[in-house]
Amino acid sequence: MTVPVAFSTPRLTAECIRLAHTAEIFRMHQDPEQMAMLGGVRDEEQSATYMVRALQHWEEFAFGVWMLRDRQSGESAGRVLLRHLLLDGVNELEVGYSLYPAYWGRGLALEAASACMRFARAALPFTSVVALTATDHVRSQQVLRKLGMAFDREIERDGQRLVLFRTGVPDSASGATVPPRST
Ligand SMILES: CC(C)(COP(=O)(O)OP(=O)(O)OC[C@H]1O[C@@H](n2cnc3c(N)ncnc32)[C@H](O)[C@@H]1OP(=O)(O)O)[C@@H](O)C(=O)NCCC(=O)NCCS
Repeated sequence: MTVPVAFSTPRLTAECIRLAHTAEIFRMHQDPEQMAMLGGVRDEEQSATYMVRALQHWEEFAFGVWMLRDRQSGESAGRVLLRHLLLDGVNELEVGYSLYPAYWGRGLALEAASACMRFARAALPFTSVVALTATDHVRSQQVLRKLGMAFDREIERDGQRLVLFRTGVPDSASGATVPPRST
C-alpha cells in the first residue's frame, strides 16, 4: 500500500496540499483562534515558507499535509498531516491537525488523524508515531490520547516548552504492537 493523495472519512474529504491551496493556507494562518496554540498567526512570508516545505515533503516522500473539507458542504475545514520530524537526531514520523474553530468539538480532528494513523501503520516504515503540542493544550492532548498515544517527554523547541506524545504502531508484517520507545 502507498499513502493516498486523497481520501475521505465519514464527514471529511482530504486532498494532498498543492500550490493552489496557498491562499487557503494563508487564510488559516491568519486566524488568531486557530493559531493560538500553534505559535500565533503567520504572515504571508511565513505561509509561503510553509507551502514550500509542504510541497517539497510530498515531492520527496509521497506523503505530507492534506487539506480537509466538510464532506457535506465542501467548505474548507482545516488540515491534517503526517511528516518527518527530526528530533534529537532521530527521524520521527509526526501526526498533526488543525481545524477552523467552526469545526471544533465534533470529533473531526480524531476522525482525520485516525485515517493518518492507519496509513502510517500500513505504508510507512516507522515503529511509532509522535505528536508535539503545547504543555497546556488540553484539547489536543485529549485527541492524542484517543488516538492511542501517550506522554513520552517534554522538549524545548524554538524557545517553547512542548510535550511529545508517542504511540506504538503495529508492525504490518507481524501484526504485533511495538511498545513506545523509552528515552
Ligand atoms: C485541538 C483541535 C485539533 C481539537 O479538535 P476537535 O475536533 O475539536 O477535538 P475532538 O475531535 O477531540 O473533539 C472534541 C470534543 O468533541 C466532542 N465530540 C462530538 N462529536 C464527537 C465524535 N463523533 N467523536 C469524538 N468526539 C466528539 C467530544 O465531546 C470531544 O470532547 P471530549 O474529548 O471531552 O470527549 C482543534 O481545537 C484545533 O484544530 N485547534 C486549532 C489548531 C491546533 O491547536 N491544533 C493542534 C496543534 S498541536
